[in-house]
Amino acid sequence: MSAPKDISVTERLILALDVPSPDEARKLVALLGDSVQFYKIGLELFMAGGYFELLDWLKAQGKKVFVDLKFFDVPETVASAVRQLRSRGADLATIHGNDSIMRAAVREKGDLKLLAVTVLTSLDQGDIDDLGFKTDVAALVLSRAKRALEIGCDGVVSSGLEASQLRANLDHRLLVVVPGIRPVANKPADDQKRTVDVEEAFEMGADYIVVGRPIRGAENPKQAAQDVQARIKAYFEKKA
Ligand code: C5P
Repeated sequence: MSAPKDISVTERLILALDVPSPDEARKLVALLGDSVQFYKIGLELFMAGGYFELLDWLKAQGKKVFVDLKFFDVPETVASAVRQLRSRGADLATIHGNDSIMRAAVREKGDLKLLAVTVLTSLDQGDIDDLGFKTDVAALVLSRAKRALEIGCDGVVSSGLEASQLRANLDHRLLVVVPGIRPVANKPADDQKRTVDVEEAFEMGADYIVVGRPIRGAENPKQAAQDVQARIKAYFEKKA
């Protein structure tokens, strides 16, 4: 488990708003009400138009916002993008890239918390070999996370299965955000393969979990979100 951080229990669940339009996003947020306090908005909504109006609306509802656009470009371009973003009110954002890209982004981040993508979970060892990296995935994730923290990033996005090795080897200041959560012992008929459940994710060192389809696709999304929140609360009460 990670060291205690100043994170409110109800903000540890981040809902992935992977819907095609800001209208649908607003409807879902209204439906979920108090059951979700933190939302992740990514590329699909970015390409739909109205992204920053949605961000402003979420902030006006008192929500926290994770801008998941995985900036990746030459360092100065990433730095400029981060400079533009930092005054927009987002709480978390993702960047992707090597040391010089991360360094440029950190220089401009202000109060924005930056998460580094280490190795995309869609890449397997064969892909890493093809890219010419002479290392295994686990070692690469750890070394990328270590560099990210040294350079001044606030955290990383990590699969639940990698979280424990990050916790065991890195400074506890590192924020670890874990997607690919499957709250029930289901066999998902979707693209997530390396899944963990809610308690496992926190036990392995997550600070936040990102959940999308298991809540959005539930018969009663609000009830599903409340169930996840109840499990998070129970987990942290037991640990206290
Ligand atoms: O629907 P699901 O619960 O799989 O949603 C997970 C969210 O986390 C999606 O928005 C997905 O893009 C994101 N994500 C992920 N794996 C990563 C990084 C982000 O699943 N390595």
